[in-house]
Amino acid sequence: MAEVHFTDDALTKAKGKVIVLTGGAQGIGGSFVKIAYTAGAHLFVGDWDVEKGEALAASLRADKEASANGGTVTFQRVDVTNYKSQLALFEAAVAAHGHIDTAVPFAAGGEPRGFFEPETLTIESLQAEPTAIRDRLELNVLSVVYFCRIALAYMRNPDPDAAQRAYDAKEPMPKSIVLIASLAGIAQNPGVPIYITSKHAVMGLLRSFAPYAPVRYNVRINAMCPSATNTRMIDSLTESWVAAGLPMNQPEDVARYVLLCATDEQRNGNAIYISGGKGVDIEDGYVKTMPVWMGLQHTIDLQASREFCGLGDGWVETKTSWQEKKE
Ligand SMILES: NC(=O)c1ccc[n+]([C@@H]2O[C@H](COP(=O)([O-])OP(=O)(O)OC[C@H]3O[C@@H](n4cnc5c(N)ncnc54)[C@H](O)[C@@H]3O)[C@@H](O)[C@H]2O)c1
Repeated sequence: MAEVHFTDDALTKAKGKVIVLTGGAQGIGGSFVKIAYTAGAHLFVGDWDVEKGEALAASLRADKEASANGGTVTFQRVDVTNYKSQLALFEAAVAAHGHIDTAVPFAAGGEPRGFFEPETLTIESLQAEPTAIRDRLELNVLSVVYFCRIALAYMRNPDPDAAQRAYDAKEPMPKSIVLIASLAGIAQNPGVPIYITSKHAVMGLLRSFAPYAPVRYNVRINAMCPSATNTRMIDSLTESWVAAGLPMNQPEDVARYVLLCATDEQRNGNAIYISGGKGVDIEDGYVKTMPVWMGLQHTIDLQASREFCGLGDGWVETKTSWQEKKE
């Protein structure tokens, strides 16, 4: 089991880093803002809750102790479902500092109810298009895909040959994306089909970019898979969860692991499951135990096929071919 431990080294390394994040007005993102600001990072925080976002930024600026390391925070109203709105957040960071070191898309929402429960899933109910489902997938999936694309463009090594050389030489990679998946990205979660679908999609991004982005762009990518974390998102669950004696994360537990992944210049491809404040990289176990759960021959064949496919060059459907099919 690959346990992951937070160390104060992450706080030292965070000083001076330029970090772009969404969903930072409260909850886990809000905790991250506090910790990274106190460590001396320059934060560009996007959220559509202007009142809470501005209040958090103002309280940090007014806090002499928290400001002692030279941290700065810029809050901007962002609706992550609006592409230009996300882009403007990145543009603000680059205009101020000329570069970005880390990008974290915290913003997401819970399950849209009323579509799959026995009493709501009826032939009659099908007459109304369930647009709330599309909206939630837009928020939890599409916005994250867009966020990653913008982040990679701003953080990439612009010279592909130099990127390959740096990767081959195992040079440290300061630039990184930290995705926010969930326990719902790795395990069964009945009753929340849209949320679990969206968080599995986030894991898809991790598994697609982790072997690719460090080689092509010198950008690392890791993901958080927190179990229940004490924020308003799980308000309806918190009391009974704690009463059942189940481990509960505090938002700062998850925030610290985000900072660890952001600042550890070797760490890539981790999916850190966090429960009761403790983290373990499940991707490590997932790969190592493949022969156990899929058999040795399947594992060998799968690895061979991955090597054959490489980074997707030459076989991934090209833009031209799908355009031709459409026409
Ligand atoms: N709380 C948990 O138990 C838990 C567990 C696993 C994963 N997560 C994930 O952690 C992340 C943070 O969740 P949280 O628990 O802190 O929730 P939260 O509701 O406290 O915070 C989410 C933030 O995102 C913002 N947001 C929502 N929609 C937005 C939009 N369209 N544009 C801009 N901002 C928007 C909200 O205003 C809020 O500030 C989410 O990705 C969530 O799925 C949470």
